[in-house]
Amino acid sequence: MEGERRVAALDLGTNNCRLLVARCAGRGVFVPLRGFQLIVRLGEGLGVGGRLQPQAVARTLEALRVCARICAEEGVAAFRGILTAVGRLARDVDDFLRLAEAETGLRLEVVDEAEEARLSLLACLPLVDLRAPRSVILDVGGGSSEVIVPHREGPTVAASLPLGAVNATETFGDATDPAVYARIRAATLAELRARGFGALPPEPRAVLIGTSGTATVLAALTLGLHELSREAVDGARMDMEAVRATIRSVLAMSLDARRQHPVIGPGRADVLPAGAAILEAVAEHLGCGTFVAADRGPLDGLVRRLCGAALPPVAFRGASHGTDRDEMAKTVKKSAGRGRLSASSRRWLERQARDPFVRRAKAEGYRARSVYKLEEMDRRFGLLRPGMRVLDIGAAPGSWSQYAARRGCRVVAVDLLEIEPISGVEIVRGDVRDPAVQAELRARLGGPAQVVLSDLAPNTSGDKVSDRLRSEAACEEILAFVPEVLAAGGSLVLKLLRGAEAVVVPQARALFGKVRHVRPQATRAESSEIYLVCTDFRPPPSSVAAGGGSTGDSRASSPETTSSTGSGSRGASSSAASASRTEP
Ligand SMILES: C[S@@+](CC[C@H](N)C(=O)[O-])C[C@H]1O[C@@H](n2cnc3c(N)ncnc32)[C@H](O)[C@@H]1O
Repeated sequence: MEGERRVAALDLGTNNCRLLVARCAGRGVFVPLRGFQLIVRLGEGLGVGGRLQPQAVARTLEALRVCARICAEEGVAAFRGILTAVGRLARDVDDFLRLAEAETGLRLEVVDEAEEARLSLLACLPLVDLRAPRSVILDVGGGSSEVIVPHREGPTVAASLPLGAVNATETFGDATDPAVYARIRAATLAELRARGFGALPPEPRAVLIGTSGTATVLAALTLGLHELSREAVDGARMDMEAVRATIRSVLAMSLDARRQHPVIGPGRADVLPAGAAILEAVAEHLGCGTFVAADRGPLDGLVRRLCGAALPPVAFRGASHGTDRDEMAKTVKKSAGRGRLSASSRRWLERQARDPFVRRAKAEGYRARSVYKLEEMDRRFGLLRPGMRVLDIGAAPGSWSQYAARRGCRVVAVDLLEIEPISGVEIVRGDVRDPAVQAELRARLGGPAQVVLSDLAPNTSGDKVSDRLRSEAACEEILAFVPEVLAAGGSLVLKLLRGAEAVVVPQARALFGKVRHVRPQATRAESSEIYLVCTDFRPPPSSVAAGGGSTGDSRASSPETTSSTGSGSRGASSSAASASRTEP
């Protein structure tokens, strides 16, 4: 008898691990008995190498053990556990599934986008108001967002956008920055259009049903709740304008304030702004004037399935994701003719599939292909040696730090984004321009560094002039900080965008005996970035770090005879001239 059965469903997403134990009370009807939820961030760092990171796997296994114990305690008769976008993306997902089963006894499976959409629809159908001019169900996940449009006449249409709160934050940066927020919105609109969703006129009664963390947190904040309560949030209806006002106030909060907020909390604090940008873009594009929160998603759909509900039919307009080179090549080939990928996604996939540096980085266990830029500069200029103190600025995801640590250096790394731990590297999360962060970096270094690396890239807007200005400003701030941390005779590698040299190089020359322009081979052809390799640091008299920690091999050389910008404005040494020649 259905009424007697206890079932459990588990949804393992990019961000969250959720378990729901329920008693079936009829076909497709259930009574929730017990829930468990933990933010595990299984997908953290996945965008880079396409592999699950050991720390993320360890956190997830911990959560799965708790889920297995709950299932045993509740005596569940049927269990189904699924992985969504994170499982579709991770090239080593099969290893993870085997490990999870061996460690916890739970057998998990990866579902495709179409099934994920059907499960979300199944869960949200009871909230769809058939009298509304239109309803749109939106599930903003960590690594993708599902958009479902149920139709009264004709099939329900669904699509998976390859943008979720976590990967949008990792790709675009901190969405509290208005420029980043605008880019995430623009990317969402482009993905919607690529799947045939035309802009619809605003309609106050058109409903956006928002499921998952982003939507329920925004709803709870709009309702003025002091905690996230499923009872209060699920089915709550509000004006989209009120949700927009909530989003504006979230964007104005500091990261710390978001972390400490009882509704947002530390697990969502950094990714909520990106999730909000996706949600706002979908609501705007599809003209939804009303918002309904649904504290339910594929998980509830799974439980309804386990209790005998049939999956509703859905016409799926999805996009496949894959980071494995062969898979990507297949995806590109299969999808190209059918127009399933947006042009930008296709270009990205094709480029990744062809790129030998991506393959090499994967094979050698580096988190990013950009490691080969540093390797080339190190090989040519002998920058790094065992025992050196190195400061890596703008270090995420961490391939430069990995390289320096493998060369035997003691590394302190700083980035706005979280960096997964790297052995031999001290990690500081924060803005390098912040005096408190600078003080922490000095303390962690424990003495002047012999090398400062900066691959820091401010967010770009696509507008060449403003991007150059941002690059100039970032380089000027780094050059102002360098005397506080670099030892006499030390070296600096500084990334800048072409055009910024006019401002940056004279400032670098004032501090270093030699300044060379380098464009490493691993630089992408379409990129306008170049590096300054600055050696032989000559501390200004007031410099904090100048007093000690000299590299020991600093040579007195006149900037007049050894500096080169490649512009020919000063005398160029032969080695500097050869460095300049590497530029195309
Ligand atoms: C190109 S990535 C660095 C890649 C890194 N070298 C590697 O190989 O893994 C540039 C980084 O600069 C960081 N960044 C930008 N502005 C920053 C700031 N003000 N403070 C700290 N990091 C910043 C970004 O978050 C981004 O992770």
